[in-house]
Order: sequence, then C-alpha cells, then structure tokens
Amino acid sequence: MLFVTKRLSFCAAHRLFNPGLNDEENAKLFGKCSFPGGHGHNYTLEVTVCGDVDKETGMIIDVKVLKGIIECEVVSKLDHKNLNTDVAFLKDTIPSVENIVMKIWDILNEKIDKGRLYEVKLFETKDNAAIYRIDQKKT
Ligand code: NI
Repeated sequence: MLFVTKRLSFCAAHRLFNPGLNDEENAKLFGKCSFPGGHGHNYTLEVTVCGDVDKETGMIIDVKVLKGIIECEVVSKLDHKNLNTDVAFLKDTIPSVENIVMKIWDILNEKIDKGRLYEVKLFETKDNAAIYRIDQKKT
C-alpha cells in the first residue's frame, strides 16, 4: 500500500476533568493534569492518506490540498484555544489525546475526497501520542 503523510502543529490548553466526579476524585484520577488552572501542550498532528497514484498528477492527494483541509477544519479550530471550553466539536468531551484524535478522524474522514484517510496520529508531547486508524476489517 502507498501512503502520504502531512504533519502540522498547534498549541492549546486543557484540563483533564470529568464533571461527573468531584474535585477529589478528579485529582486522584488525573493528578496534575487536573489542576484547576489547566496547562498547555504543543501538539503535533500527523494525517496519513492511502490510495493509488493518480496517473495525471503522480500523487495520491495533493499535499497542499490536504494541508488546507487540515488547517481549515481542525488546526484553526484548536490552535491557541482552551479545549475544555472553546471548541464546538469537543463540547462535553474530556479533552484527552485519545478523545481529540477520534474527533479529528471523524472530521477529516468527511472532508478528504482523494485517496482514503488511513491514520490520524496526535502527539500531545514528544513522547505521548494517540493513533486512530482505519478499520482494515471493513475495507
Ligand atoms: Ni495535558
């Protein structure tokens, strides 16, 4: 299989907090990630599309087009935002890296119309990432 990957970065703030738990339970579950003032991350997003090469262009998808979709649909909505309060698609969602990457998958999967979305990988730190990948059983 053939893949193309675009990487983009953004900065955002969040606090891991479950409104169904009290402060003590949140502190026990999430530790310093639940401090009331929140904290920031420099996120790195990697989006991978698979498919065949278009004979006319030599590409699966034009990475400029892919970059535009990711910037418009995802990065512009997350960059320099508070993920607990400022992002419509994360409303009522604990803004963990796992939950964020699943939401990004759903958004991009609707918008990418050349090739197929294969994988979305979101790094929250240089050492921590969550990956959402196509279900190969359904392809
Ligand atoms: Ni965090």
